[in-house]
Amino acid sequence: MAYLVALSSAWSGACGNNGGGVVLIPAQGKFLVLPLLLQGPCHGVIRIQLDGELLASSDKQFAIGDHWLSIENVNNLFIDGLGRLTGSGASAWPSNSLNRPISMKFNNVNTASIKNISSFDSKFFHFAVHASRDVTFDNVTVVAPANSPNTDGIHISTSSGINIMHSTIGTGDDCISLGPGSKMINISNVHCGPGHGISIGSLGKNPNEEDVFDVTVRDSTFIGTSNGARIKSWSSPYSSMVSKVTFLNLQMNNVKNPIIIDQSYCPDSCAPNKMNKSMVQIKDVRYQGITGSSNTPVAVDFECSQVLPCQGIVLQDINLTFNGGGKTTSICHNVKGSASGQQLPPSCL
Ligand SMILES: *[C@@H]1O[C@H](CO)[C@@H](O)[C@H](O)[C@H]1NC(C)=O
Ligand SMILES: *[C@@H]1O[C@H](CO)[C@@H](O)[C@H](O)[C@H]1NC(C)=O
Ligand SMILES: *[C@@H]1O[C@H](CO)[C@@H](O)[C@H](O)[C@H]1NC(C)=O
Ligand SMILES: *[C@@H]1O[C@H](CO)[C@@H](O)[C@H](O)[C@H]1NC(C)=O
Ligand SMILES: *[C@@H]1O[C@H](CO)[C@@H](O)[C@H](O)[C@H]1NC(C)=O
Repeated sequence: MAYLVALSSAWSGACGNNGGGVVLIPAQGKFLVLPLLLQGPCHGVIRIQLDGELLASSDKQFAIGDHWLSIENVNNLFIDGLGRLTGSGASAWPSNSLNRPISMKFNNVNTASIKNISSFDSKFFHFAVHASRDVTFDNVTVVAPANSPNTDGIHISTSSGINIMHSTIGTGDDCISLGPGSKMINISNVHCGPGHGISIGSLGKNPNEEDVFDVTVRDSTFIGTSNGARIKSWSSPYSSMVSKVTFLNLQMNNVKNPIIIDQSYCPDSCAPNKMNKSMVQIKDVRYQGITGSSNTPVAVDFECSQVLPCQGIVLQDINLTFNGGGKTTSICHNVKGSASGQQLPPSCL
């Protein structure tokens, strides 16, 4: 309890200080912190120097909730240090509730960088960025077991100008997930695995979702993940669009679905007449220089909507081998586009 007061009062001091301030979590320190909302606006640049460890409670009463640490309404935020967030997720994973705390949430945070820090064993997502602009994650490490539920590394929604680079993410769900309203997103030099890959979606779950566009994922590796480059939408009547997406120079190693568009997502089983009728339009997606190994024969899988076929899908220089021996194949349902350069598996576009 004492530590909770210390962190929130350090924040208030730094945030209220004219010209800005620093919140220091000293090295060698391990601080138990209960769920905390750190709010702005602040009077200047805020730095959080995370050299030590922040530890979330494993008490059952904190297994449910929106966040562990939430930072809101702040401009000019810099988080750096060699320290870590320890989410104590094992105490919350068995509940399987979708209302478990995000370890570190950014809401309406503009011009921010998160550098060098690590996040372990979040109860739900490790990091989530919502309604924010110009946020950079650089050299961030995410660690959680492959079977931990919904522990996405970094989730983005309704935000623009987000850069994620030089980061290593191994977790139980998506390494990075881009939800509705993700735009101008740059992802580069990310090592993903274990995990579910880098995903756009799920989209189309709710009415009035914002579009996703201008996304680049490049120079990254996927090791033992269930997906590589994935776009996923619900088979639902809610419309939106995904456009101008580039997957460039990605190395797959033992990945189940290296390239996949899945527009028939329907986890609680759809009525047959609703199957494959996603109203999310996917267009202008380029896959270039995607190489390495698939651990299933289907290395390229385009399952697009029957009512809004994918358009402008481009495959260029694809070399995906089946590590079980034999050839890889591709599947095209309701997709229009073109292929050039090397195509392994043979393109079905
Ligand atoms: C964090 O990383 C940057 C480079 O990304 C480096 O310049 C900086 O010194 C690092 N900070 C610490 C506290 O090590
Ligand atoms: C990245 O962060 C780690 C700590 O997690 C640190 O040891 C390393 O020096 C950082 N690398 C760079 C390039 O800053
Ligand atoms: C993404 O990276 C490219 C260069 O690689 C750069 O021109 C562009 O401004 C970046 N976008 C964002 C949102 O930072
Ligand atoms: C939906 O798509 C899947 C995969 O393309 C296919 O196996 C299934 O038969 C389709 N269902 C309907 C009702 O069209
Ligand atoms: C395709 O990849 C395999 C294994 O990674 C490699 O042996 C082969 O030379 C590549 N083919 C071409 C044409 O680059």
